[in-house]
Amino acid sequence: MFREVKEIAIRDGNALLRSARADDAADIYACLRDCVCETPYMYRSPDECDDAPEKYERYIKSVEDSPYSLKLLAIVGGRIAGFARLDLEKRRKIRHRGEIGIVAIRKEFWRHGIGRAMLAELLQAAREANVTQLELDVAATNAPALALYKSLGFVETGRRKHGIILDDGTEIDEIFMQMFFDEACRC
Ligand SMILES: CC(C)(COP(=O)(O)OP(=O)(O)OC[C@H]1O[C@@H](n2cnc3c(N)ncnc32)[C@H](O)[C@@H]1OP(=O)(O)O)[C@@H](O)C(=O)NCCC(=O)NCCS
Repeated sequence: MFREVKEIAIRDGNALLRSARADDAADIYACLRDCVCETPYMYRSPDECDDAPEKYERYIKSVEDSPYSLKLLAIVGGRIAGFARLDLEKRRKIRHRGEIGIVAIRKEFWRHGIGRAMLAELLQAAREANVTQLELDVAATNAPALALYKSLGFVETGRRKHGIILDDGTEIDEIFMQMFFDEACRC
């Protein structure tokens, strides 16, 4: 799914939102690595950021070429500040559904309004694709992400007990959230 470049206002300036391209792969991976080191709420650990550059580029290219996936970048001052992903279902019985995948922003840009702007853009892309409901998973202790998703109209509809176990043994539940465009969307 392709999104045109869009300029948005964020705290202290502007950012650009646009679809990722294969030639962004190295910069996206650098952003991913930073985010993995800055929060426990990414599924990878720092020592698991060892993908071969060509492999990651192929992955980004496959998303770029897919009519069912969107990897959205937020760019500030020419640098990738964060990214977020949307995947739509293809099969007829479930093609009313979409999933918000990884959402990650470099710590220096937290609380600048980028997460909300990226989610709004993904929601708009889902609407335009005639999706009527969205889902996502979030760690139960991830208060900023939970607050963001709730503010957009997502509600908790399930829970995976002990879905995440940190290296120090801390067990965290994963919350399953859904949003129904005709009911609760506040965007
Ligand atoms: C969660 C995350 C995506 C939020 O992005 P962000 O750009 O910092 O969020 P925004 O500035 O757009 O804020 C949007 C809303 O999120 C919530 N929020 C963000 N940071 C928060 C914080 N520290 N405490 C409480 N609520 C917070 C608020 O509801 C906020 O709305 P408000 O500013 O009107 O109060 C970002 O913190 C991040 O990348 N975290 C690390 C990775 C991660 O946890 N990803 C989500 C995995 S499911």
